[in-house]
Amino acid sequence: MLWRTLVFFGTDTGKTRKIAKLIHQKLGDAADAPVNINRTTLDSFLSYPVLLLGTPTLGQGQLPGMDAGCEGESWQEFIDGLSGMELTDKTVALFGLGDQVGYPDNFVSGMKALYDAVTDRGARVVGA
Ligand SMILES: Cc1cc2nc3c(=O)[nH]c(=O)nc-3n(C[C@H](O)[C@H](O)[C@H](O)COP(=O)(O)O)c2cc1C
Repeated sequence: MLWRTLVFFGTDTGKTRKIAKLIHQKLGDAADAPVNINRTTLDSFLSYPVLLLGTPTLGQGQLPGMDAGCEGESWQEFIDGLSGMELTDKTVALFGLGDQVGYPDNFVSGMKALYDAVTDRGARVVGA
Protein backbone atom coordinates (compact mmCIF):
# COMPACT_ATOMS: atom_id res chain seq x y z
CA MET A 1 0.00 0.00 0.00
CA LEU A 2 1.33 3.44 -0.94
CA TRP A 3 0.59 6.05 1.72
CA ARG A 4 -0.11 9.50 0.37
CA THR A 5 2.82 11.64 1.43
CA LEU A 6 3.47 15.30 0.97
CA VAL A 7 6.25 17.73 1.83
CA PHE A 8 4.83 21.00 3.12
CA PHE A 9 7.30 23.81 3.70
CA GLY A 10 7.45 27.40 4.87
CA THR A 11 10.14 29.73 3.62
CA ASP A 12 11.27 33.33 3.57
CA THR A 13 14.16 33.39 1.12
CA GLY A 14 13.62 30.07 -0.68
CA LYS A 15 16.22 27.76 0.87
CA THR A 16 13.67 25.52 2.57
CA ARG A 17 11.82 25.21 -0.76
CA LYS A 18 15.07 23.98 -2.33
CA ILE A 19 15.52 21.33 0.36
CA ALA A 20 11.86 20.31 0.05
CA LYS A 21 12.43 19.70 -3.66
CA LEU A 22 15.55 17.61 -2.96
CA ILE A 23 13.63 15.47 -0.46
CA HIS A 24 10.82 15.07 -2.97
CA GLN A 25 13.31 13.87 -5.61
CA LYS A 26 14.54 11.20 -3.18
CA LEU A 27 10.99 10.07 -2.44
CA GLY A 28 10.10 9.71 -6.11
CA ASP A 29 6.59 8.40 -6.73
CA ALA A 30 6.00 8.01 -3.00
CA ALA A 31 5.18 11.71 -2.64
CA ASP A 32 3.30 14.45 -4.45
CA ALA A 33 5.15 17.68 -5.35
CA PRO A 34 6.09 19.91 -2.38
CA VAL A 35 3.69 22.69 -1.44
CA ASN A 36 4.33 26.01 0.28
CA ILE A 37 2.22 26.05 3.44
CA ASN A 38 0.89 29.48 2.44
CA ARG A 39 -0.59 27.97 -0.73
CA THR A 40 -2.55 25.11 0.73
CA THR A 41 -5.88 24.64 2.45
CA LEU A 42 -6.61 22.96 5.74
CA ASP A 43 -8.57 20.25 3.88
CA SER A 44 -5.66 19.49 1.58
CA PHE A 45 -3.20 19.38 4.50
CA LEU A 46 -5.46 17.03 6.45
CA SER A 47 -5.94 14.70 3.48
CA TYR A 48 -2.37 13.34 3.77
CA PRO A 49 -1.72 10.56 6.31
CA VAL A 50 2.06 11.11 6.08
CA LEU A 51 3.38 14.66 6.33
CA LEU A 52 6.95 15.88 5.91
CA LEU A 53 7.05 19.37 7.35
CA GLY A 54 9.94 21.74 6.75
CA THR A 55 10.67 25.13 8.20
CA PRO A 56 13.40 27.71 8.60
CA THR A 57 13.79 29.50 11.92
CA LEU A 58 13.36 33.25 11.68
CA GLY A 59 13.03 36.27 13.96
CA GLN A 60 14.11 35.22 17.45
CA GLY A 61 13.72 31.46 17.18
CA GLN A 62 10.31 31.73 15.51
CA LEU A 63 8.41 29.98 12.78
CA PRO A 64 8.14 31.96 9.53
CA GLY A 65 5.13 34.26 9.40
CA MET A 66 4.22 37.91 9.76
CA ASP A 67 5.41 38.11 13.40
CA ALA A 68 8.85 36.90 12.32
CA GLY A 69 9.13 39.63 9.70
CA CYS A 70 8.09 37.70 6.59
CA GLU A 71 6.26 39.58 3.86
CA GLY A 72 3.43 37.06 3.82
CA GLU A 73 1.76 34.43 5.95
CA SER A 74 3.46 31.10 6.54
CA TRP A 75 3.67 28.38 9.19
CA GLN A 76 2.74 30.60 12.14
CA GLU A 77 -0.59 31.58 10.65
CA PHE A 78 -1.28 28.03 9.43
CA ILE A 79 -0.58 26.59 12.89
CA ASP A 80 -2.89 29.20 14.44
CA GLY A 81 -5.61 27.90 12.10
CA LEU A 82 -5.11 24.33 13.36
CA SER A 83 -6.54 25.11 16.79
CA GLY A 84 -9.17 22.56 17.73
CA MET A 85 -8.01 20.13 15.00
CA GLU A 86 -6.99 16.55 15.72
CA LEU A 87 -3.98 15.02 13.96
CA THR A 88 -4.19 11.64 15.68
CA ASP A 89 -4.15 9.75 12.36
CA LYS A 90 -1.02 11.52 11.07
CA THR A 91 2.58 10.40 10.88
CA VAL A 92 4.89 13.39 10.70
CA ALA A 93 8.59 13.89 9.98
CA LEU A 94 10.25 17.26 10.41
CA PHE A 95 13.20 19.04 8.84
CA GLY A 96 14.54 22.47 9.57
CA LEU A 97 17.00 25.07 8.35
CA GLY A 98 18.85 27.53 10.54
CA ASP A 99 22.11 29.30 11.22
CA GLN A 100 24.04 27.91 14.15
CA VAL A 101 26.77 30.56 13.91
CA GLY A 102 24.50 33.61 13.78
CA TYR A 103 21.81 32.25 16.13
CA PRO A 104 23.46 29.76 18.52
CA ASP A 105 20.81 30.29 21.22
CA ASN A 106 17.86 29.64 18.89
CA PHE A 107 19.36 27.23 16.38
CA VAL A 108 16.49 25.62 14.39
CA SER A 109 14.05 26.40 17.22
CA GLY A 110 11.27 26.62 14.64
CA MET A 111 11.36 22.82 14.42
CA LYS A 112 10.40 22.61 18.09
CA ALA A 113 7.47 24.94 17.51
CA LEU A 114 6.26 22.69 14.67
CA TYR A 115 6.90 19.57 16.77
CA ASP A 116 4.81 21.00 19.62
CA ALA A 117 2.03 22.08 17.26
CA VAL A 118 1.57 18.62 15.76
CA THR A 119 2.19 16.50 18.88
CA ASP A 120 -0.21 18.67 20.93
CA ARG A 121 -2.86 17.59 18.41
CA GLY A 122 -1.96 13.90 18.64
CA ALA A 123 0.30 13.34 15.64
CA ARG A 124 3.02 10.68 15.78
CA VAL A 125 6.42 12.18 14.96
CA VAL A 126 9.06 9.84 13.55
CA GLY A 127 12.83 10.31 13.31
CA ALA A 128 15.25 11.29 16.04
C1 LIG B 1 16.05 37.79 10.32
C2 LIG B 1 16.56 36.35 10.44
C3 LIG B 1 16.41 35.70 11.66
C4 LIG B 1 16.90 34.39 11.81
N1 LIG B 1 16.76 33.76 13.01
C5 LIG B 1 17.23 32.50 13.15
C6 LIG B 1 17.12 31.83 14.41
O1 LIG B 1 16.59 32.35 15.40
N2 LIG B 1 17.61 30.55 14.50
C7 LIG B 1 18.22 29.93 13.44
O2 LIG B 1 18.63 28.79 13.59
N3 LIG B 1 18.32 30.54 12.23
C8 LIG B 1 17.87 31.81 12.06
N4 LIG B 1 17.97 32.43 10.85
C9 LIG B 1 18.61 31.73 9.71
C10 LIG B 1 17.58 31.12 8.74
O3 LIG B 1 16.80 30.12 9.37
C11 LIG B 1 18.32 30.50 7.56
O4 LIG B 1 18.95 31.51 6.81
C12 LIG B 1 17.42 29.69 6.65
O5 LIG B 1 18.22 28.95 5.74
C13 LIG B 1 16.42 30.54 5.86
O6 LIG B 1 15.57 29.67 5.16
P1 LIG B 1 14.57 30.19 4.02
O7 LIG B 1 15.43 30.64 2.84
O8 LIG B 1 13.76 28.98 3.65
O9 LIG B 1 13.73 31.29 4.56
C14 LIG B 1 17.51 33.74 10.70
C15 LIG B 1 17.64 34.43 9.47
C16 LIG B 1 17.17 35.72 9.35
C17 LIG B 1 17.34 36.44 8.02
